[in-house]
Amino acid sequence: MQAELSLERVLKSFEGQTVLGGLDLEVNPGETLSILGGSGTGKSVTLKLMIGLLRSDAGRIRFRGRDVTTLSEREWIAVRRHFGMVFQGSALFDSLTVLENVAYSLREHTDLGEVAIRRIVASKLALVGLEGIEGRLPAQLSGGMRKRVGVARALALDPEVLLYDEPTTGLDPANSRRIAELIRDLQTRLNVTSVVVTHDLPLAFSISDRVGLLHEGEIVQLDTPARLREEPAPAMQEFLEGASLGAP
Ligand SMILES: Nc1ncnc2c1ncn2[C@@H]1O[C@H](COP(=O)(O)OP(=O)(O)O)[C@@H](O)[C@H]1O
Ligand SMILES: [Mg+2]
Repeated sequence: MQAELSLERVLKSFEGQTVLGGLDLEVNPGETLSILGGSGTGKSVTLKLMIGLLRSDAGRIRFRGRDVTTLSEREWIAVRRHFGMVFQGSALFDSLTVLENVAYSLREHTDLGEVAIRRIVASKLALVGLEGIEGRLPAQLSGGMRKRVGVARALALDPEVLLYDEPTTGLDPANSRRIAELIRDLQTRLNVTSVVVTHDLPLAFSISDRVGLLHEGEIVQLDTPARLREEPAPAMQEFLEGASLGAP
């Protein structure tokens, strides 16, 4: 089976500080894969490399077998249409209504008319369980609703791969569970491939086909939740214990 997305020995450093020191990762079509890791370990950097918002210093990144490592920004714009990104903290435009937030990429990347755009926005809001809130501003929404609008926005162009950056950060347990259910639900209903980066253990273990730990610039263990619980590698064990003691 060809990987949906693969990173081979990917290196990334900033000002001489190595963040990723030869990261290897293969994401299978249709799976939900979560990457755990503490703050500052390179989770957001990894997602940004996957959609060309950052460039690796060395190594190879493939999307469906195609080498995208050295694409130009112009070429990336076409490839990026296959991806939907749910940014850390939702990153909605505060001055735009929910309609305009969700419609954003449709207006940027398609020639669709107003009626079609409104119909798509309504369908994406329905998918995340938020019908009829097109006219509201982000400030008029709860944190959980903002996250779900962020998901609806990521779905606008019918992506095949969804990337979630810390989708439950800042949410209470009940809303975190709703987001977990939504991620799982979208995977089964839309048959998308999902990559989730998070430090939220219950989230990763409840939604994922496979979970990995990003530690010192590499994925140290990548396996099913059941096998990780049974036989955690030392770094994974340490992370699991730290998290259960309430560390962020
Ligand atoms: N654009 C950037 N310029 C310089 N340093 C960066 C940049 N993006 C990320 N970093 C650094 O890379 C490291 C990993 O960042 P990040 O991937 O955001 O961590 P996290 O795992 O919390 O998402 C951090 O030390 C961060 O300061
Ligand atoms: Mg981050």
